Amino acid sequence: MRIVVLVSGSGSNLQALLDAVATGELDVQIAAVGSDVPECGGLQRARSSAVPTFAVPLPRGASPEQRAQWNQELCAQVSAFQPEVVVTSGFMKILSEDFLRCVSAPIINTHPALLPSFPGAHGVRDALAHGVKIAGCTVHQVDAGVDTGPILAQAAVEVRAEDDLGSLHERIKVQERRLLVETLADVAAGRIQLRAGGV
Ligand code: GRF
Repeated sequence: MRIVVLVSGSGSNLQALLDAVATGELDVQIAAVGSDVPECGGLQRARSSAVPTFAVPLPRGASPEQRAQWNQELCAQVSAFQPEVVVTSGFMKILSEDFLRCVSAPIINTHPALLPSFPGAHGVRDALAHGVKIAGCTVHQVDAGVDTGPILAQAAVEVRAEDDLGSLHERIKVQERRLLVETLADVAAGRIQLRAGGV
């Protein structure tokens, strides 16, 4: 199974994929890693593993037209690698319906909260502010909404009294890396069926 991974940040989830591929635990080919942040840690990790990279930055305060163009350009870059599945792993931009239609491959996202609670860019902060006692992470298929697509796998993480945003997110990410690797392995082996891509 050929995948393209999209990242925006440090790329520790991506690293878990790279490591699992290297050990043979995960039978996928990471064809490329792309980002909206040209110098992010995730792209550097990909380069260190000799995986092709690309970056499509979105200007701050982009107009709707610029955003549409960005989605189109990102789709062109992703599609050039002919992925069977696209993985967004800490990719912090919302992909448009046009993008979903354009790439046509199913997209899998990892989210650091137990969906459908706490969607959006601040899942861990929002869960903590709400006083949840059980936090966690979700791997789901992307649809046209924000973190609304069908749930593929989840893991729970107990919140400790002394937790702050950093400590809780770190423990969630430990589970998130494992869950992402296991879920992709299940998809690659046909144990999890994805909906057809697009919208
Ligand atoms: C992950 O928790 C992801 O779900 C969230 O941002 C974090 C990215 O971490 N949206 P990394 O870049 O993989 O280290």
